[in-house]
Amino acid sequence: MVPVSALSAPAPSSIAPAAQGKRVFNYSAGPGQMPEEVLRQIQEDVWNCRNSGVGILEHSHRAPVFDRILAEAVQDCRDVGNIPSNYHVLFMTGGSTGQNFMVPMNLLPSNRTGSADYYNTGYWANQSIEHARPFGTIHECASSKGDNYAYIPRPEQVRHSNAPAYVHYTSNNTIFGTQFHTIPTPPNGVPLVCDMCSDIFSRPFDVTRFGLIYASAQKNLGPAGVTLVIVRDDLVQKGNRDIPLMLQYRTFATGESRPNTPPVFCIYAMGLMFKWIKKMGGTAYFERFNAEKTRIVYDVLDRSSFYKPHARADSRSFMNITFRCPTPQLDDLFATEASRQGLDCLKGHRAAGGIRASFYNAMPKAGAETLAQFMKEFERTKG
Ligand SMILES: Cc1ncc(COP(=O)(O)O)c(C=O)c1O
Repeated sequence: MVPVSALSAPAPSSIAPAAQGKRVFNYSAGPGQMPEEVLRQIQEDVWNCRNSGVGILEHSHRAPVFDRILAEAVQDCRDVGNIPSNYHVLFMTGGSTGQNFMVPMNLLPSNRTGSADYYNTGYWANQSIEHARPFGTIHECASSKGDNYAYIPRPEQVRHSNAPAYVHYTSNNTIFGTQFHTIPTPPNGVPLVCDMCSDIFSRPFDVTRFGLIYASAQKNLGPAGVTLVIVRDDLVQKGNRDIPLMLQYRTFATGESRPNTPPVFCIYAMGLMFKWIKKMGGTAYFERFNAEKTRIVYDVLDRSSFYKPHARADSRSFMNITFRCPTPQLDDLFATEASRQGLDCLKGHRAAGGIRASFYNAMPKAGAETLAQFMKEFERTKG
């Protein structure tokens, strides 16, 4: 078994660390790096989960072991997010993309006469908009498209439509590397819906400001395959009934997230992630830790005339850092050379190009220090 603790800076060698069977720093935007102690617990539980003699991959979703795992996952999630009892904690499938159509399908009138407001702050926000269009009138209440999504619109730039059913925004724009630093205020009484896929539980937030929050797991909450939905009970009750049962939130709320066979392993792993977040000091700890890590890399960008950061300084993300070298060829060389040295998955998303480094909760500080070191050396030799 390869020790996960090989996560310290890889020793220089002509053979890439990954090719030597070592683990590397994984800056992927998702699925992303997971904490060592969670991975080790999973290794044990795959063989024999909680002394049941059965591994977690083999447990029935109706078995008492899973009853406990599910109940703990819900409670630990409530503890981490300080989620009151009038909100449901649901585990669903279909990813954040699935939520992009479930939200309008449930919350807009079925006869398509309703409307909803959307912030257009990048690729994933656009996906949300496109998936919602078949269900009603979609109004872009603010957009940073004109500046290639380099910033988060300020409150005075927002224009709401008349009586939207809800307002939707994407709290962290994974591809462009921007992040809302305050929760937007929707018109009075209008529920706020958030795609929190890429920054959930990376910092504290007041759940009661939201009607519905969704986040697929694969960034801060474990392996891909399950999507966390936190939804206020009145919205569940009000949701449309003339849509397929499996697409109604109430089916998951009344069926304890298992109206059919749920992704048992993914819910279990998400439960471990909640326990780990709590143990580390909760979201307040990660807010400080993520700011500290990303500052190390942003400092290099700010002192450099070689690298060009994409996000405006006031809108920078504490999860995904995006920047460019002077040419696309140098971007490619940067990513290839870094990968050879054990710094993996730094190539920007195909929609944005450049470089992207993701610093989810599980990325250790050494990941930021090693990348900063690499950036300085690359600039010194190629600049
Ligand atoms: C902000 C955001 N929303 C939505 C998605 C899509 O998630 P999924 O692939 O789980 O549908 C992603 C994926 O990276 C994302 O970063």
